[in-house]
Amino acid sequence: MKNQIKIQETIKSFKKKINIPSDKSLSIRCVLISSIAVGKSKIFNLLNSEDVNNSLEVVKKLGVKIKKKDNFVEIYGLGINGFKFQNNAILSAGNSGTLARCILGLCSGTEKKFKLTGDTSLSKRDFSRVIKPLQMFGANIKSKKNFLPIEFTGSNLLRPIKYHENKGSAQVKTCIILSAINTQGITRIKSRKSRSHTELLLKHLKYPIKIKSGKNYDHIYVRGCNQFKSFDYKVPGDISSASFFIVLTLLSKNSELIIKNTNINPTRIGILKILRKMNAKIKIQNKKNYKGEFIGDIKIKSTKNFKSINCPQSLNSSAIDEFLLIFLVAAKSKGISKFRNLDELNKKESPRLNIAINFLKMIGIKVVRKNNDISIFGRPNLILKNNFHIKNFLKDHRIFMMSVIAALTLGGTWVINDKDSINTSFPTFLNLSKKLGAKIS
Ligand code: S3P
Repeated sequence: MKNQIKIQETIKSFKKKINIPSDKSLSIRCVLISSIAVGKSKIFNLLNSEDVNNSLEVVKKLGVKIKKKDNFVEIYGLGINGFKFQNNAILSAGNSGTLARCILGLCSGTEKKFKLTGDTSLSKRDFSRVIKPLQMFGANIKSKKNFLPIEFTGSNLLRPIKYHENKGSAQVKTCIILSAINTQGITRIKSRKSRSHTELLLKHLKYPIKIKSGKNYDHIYVRGCNQFKSFDYKVPGDISSASFFIVLTLLSKNSELIIKNTNINPTRIGILKILRKMNAKIKIQNKKNYKGEFIGDIKIKSTKNFKSINCPQSLNSSAIDEFLLIFLVAAKSKGISKFRNLDELNKKESPRLNIAINFLKMIGIKVVRKNNDISIFGRPNLILKNNFHIKNFLKDHRIFMMSVIAALTLGGTWVINDKDSINTSFPTFLNLSKKLGAKIS
């Protein structure tokens, strides 16, 4: 089959320096926020992937002019409440939960009606988490049981809200902040800690947003309807994409890797904190501040003696997209690793917690599940010899890439379906793996 790959041998030792594609969360935020800035923004290193290209297509439909140049994209922002589009427009978010949730907040101030659609995976995801606060603002929303397609009509008479975001979801937080920007008055959000890119970018743009940081929660105050100027931005590498190569290096023999210019925002580096507690040899070099975000080079060395972890729940949100990889390391660790309260993992592009448990069992790892808590019984000497076929995972890009890392480090013969899934976040993933020496056909 054309859309399948085959891996029959583990990767040989490597020593390399690489760059990783740009951060997806920041790329989508740059597109959305520049579309409501006043004037022309230039975004350098915008990630070239389906989720980001869908974001560009959606803002184009809202009347925003986009010009793609050689190494940057020009986005001609229309200012707050400046979108111009036909009534009953159809906006397609493809596979992207971030785009779908955030675009609703961004459009909450326009009175035109539109329909939001998504692919099969996105159409299985629940939108009540954003429908509820948006209705409190005064938006009019029609859906079947909170799933896509959604019919949405905003209002130019939105009222500011007080909201308690308790899932640790940056998509929900961003949706509310963007809606608050369309609303006269001050919106107050108490938000469980989650990735902070939206707040940092708005602060950098001198937008009137205040953040009071607590241990587990942030209090965010947004004053609405304050026009702001266009901006230039150079998007750094994505720690979530880097993580596949971090774990590849850790689980390979005698290898070393430097991943340059990666976003290391403290709300994104749960994986580094968790893996270090498990003994992983990871260092950060050349740390610097870029427009409020931290960026650095990550140096990784193969590690032999992983120990199990009792993972603090407070790290869940900052490692949410990386748990599949953390579970692989747990499978090779001495002892029983414990992870708690992972219900959000089942609400991603696929039910990742369920799929991960079946995956671990398939490779001979004992897993005990109690509600949304799991214990993984590590086997440091695990070497696989069987044949494996990975299929039916709703084309979830992270399941595909995690399976490739397992195949390249644990042994066995693997056939993995739905190669195209990588296009949502990391189209060059297989080429980069091959550059490090992976044999993939
Ligand atoms: C994202 C937030 C996270 C993450 C997703 C990207 C973002 O989702 O899983 O891949 O860019 O805001 P939740 O906010 O639903 O946890």
